Amino acid sequence: MSWFPERQTNRTWVHRFCERVLKSGPIPKHIAIIMDGNRRFAKKKSMDRAEGHLKGFDKLAETLEWCLNLGITEVTVYAFSIENFKRSKEEVDCLLELARQKFARLLEEKELIQKHEVCIHVLGNLSMLPRDLQELVADAVNLSKHNTRAVLNVCFAYTSRHEISIAIRELAEGVQVGLLKESDISEELLEKCLYTNKSADPDLLIRTSGEVRLSDFLLWQSSFSVLAFVKVLWPEFSIWHFYASILHYQKNHDAVQSVKQSNRMNLDHQQRESDYQCVMREVGRTLDHSNCQTLVQQYAKDRQERVNKFLQYVDSKRNQFFDDLAEKRS
Ligand code: FPP
Ligand code: MG
Repeated sequence: MSWFPERQTNRTWVHRFCERVLKSGPIPKHIAIIMDGNRRFAKKKSMDRAEGHLKGFDKLAETLEWCLNLGITEVTVYAFSIENFKRSKEEVDCLLELARQKFARLLEEKELIQKHEVCIHVLGNLSMLPRDLQELVADAVNLSKHNTRAVLNVCFAYTSRHEISIAIRELAEGVQVGLLKESDISEELLEKCLYTNKSADPDLLIRTSGEVRLSDFLLWQSSFSVLAFVKVLWPEFSIWHFYASILHYQKNHDAVQSVKQSNRMNLDHQQRESDYQCVMREVGRTLDHSNCQTLVQQYAKDRQERVNKFLQYVDSKRNQFFDDLAEKRS
């Protein structure tokens, strides 16, 4: 099965009606999915594990179509965690082979990605993957990077704690090479060093299979997401479970928005306070009020310039990784 439908599958009037009803409420812009339960599904249906994972991929393709139909413009999926490397060699090989086949297929069907205008990001420690898979992934990312209608983030060789440690290392390096001051480090800046720096946080996070934990997935980014734990195994996830998850999001939307907004205000306040303290440390406490305001504004402007330069440095290092892989292939 392809990642994206070649043509729209026929939706019944019931589906269209449900979509219209749901669209009268807030629709999440970004959903994240922990696609759990493939092996239990395989066992239940007396299939090989490999077939269970294949059914899992098919369900992903189906879900992407439901998302596009509902106007959800970003989807992030947990396709392979760093922890998954601890599974048996046979299963790891099978999951990597599935990824190989699906990324190769994606490249064969270039026109489908361009038709749906979907930009694909692959997030994780890609250097842990076999070289040929890294190259396929780099080609898929490069091929779709100018598409703007929707974004699909595939988390592969990913865990959240690893992502956060890498971000902290980037910040430490920024200070060490003199691009940043220690006091420039903030929650907002750390967030911009995560693999997900191009995306807004997910509005809704769905986990299937009845497990009610996050398993090291988007721990930072899901602080203000609505969580939906669905009892069915991932390959059994139906459009009705999907609609129910959207309804669950809508019921919780207002409460989450207000918490999000107050967190935003707190962060702005913390940043102003930190800029003020830095100015005070640099010039002493002898300034009058009007002088102090101008200095804090100037300090904030300089800080922003440092931060922008640092982020360009981080970005160019990441792009270089993909460019090098693509170059060696051409
Ligand atoms: C969790 O179920 C699922 C995975 C570890 C793999 C998910 C991968 C796919 C759905 C295919 C995606 C592939 C690409 C290329 C995007 P599990 O194995 O933990 O099953 P269990 O919970 O029943 O043990
Ligand atoms: Mg599992």
